[in-house]
Amino acid sequence: MSTTTFKALISAERIAARVAELGAEISGDLAGINELTVVCVLKGAFIFAADLVRQLSVPCRVEFIRASSYGAGRASSGEVTLENDGVFDLDGKHVLLVEDIIDTGLTLSSIVVELQNQHLASLRICALLDKPLARKAPIEADYTGFTIPDHFVVGYGLDLDGRHRELPFIAIANR
Ligand code: IMP
Repeated sequence: MSTTTFKALISAERIAARVAELGAEISGDLAGINELTVVCVLKGAFIFAADLVRQLSVPCRVEFIRASSYGAGRASSGEVTLENDGVFDLDGKHVLLVEDIIDTGLTLSSIVVELQNQHLASLRICALLDKPLARKAPIEADYTGFTIPDHFVVGYGLDLDGRHRELPFIAIANR
């Protein structure tokens, strides 16, 4: 049986500082809009979105969408299932999509296609982490917290088989 080991990559302090910077940048770019709809991609972005919205100075609504491209394990299936509770209408809204990590980019591309079918006033993407070396779909975030090497990471909302989301820092998982 293999054992998972963890190596710290980004400390809680660095995350907090970067989230504050992102909040200020996004608030500056969106200054003057009457309302921003923040769409948090579950589950991995829940902690990032919770911290980010508290750094925004534009009035917000917060909605949640579920996208699953991973089963148990690390390899993206490439097939994405999108779910929401069906009660939010993004027609005419300024939307900030908040993702935990862009890996292959397949998840984000599928979500963007779905959102573009609605008549948004604007769409911006904010990802905490970006692994550009793993990219299969040509998509980038408008705002990125940290660009990281192509390692599997956990913590600050990100999981390995459902575990380690509660870690306050981000660590590389090796097993
Ligand atoms: P993509 O479709 O390959 O870009 O994968 C996006 C989703 O896979 C992310 O929203 C995460 O939920 C998950 N994911 C990708 N890389 C990692 C990782 O290193 N750790 C934890 N989850 C990951």
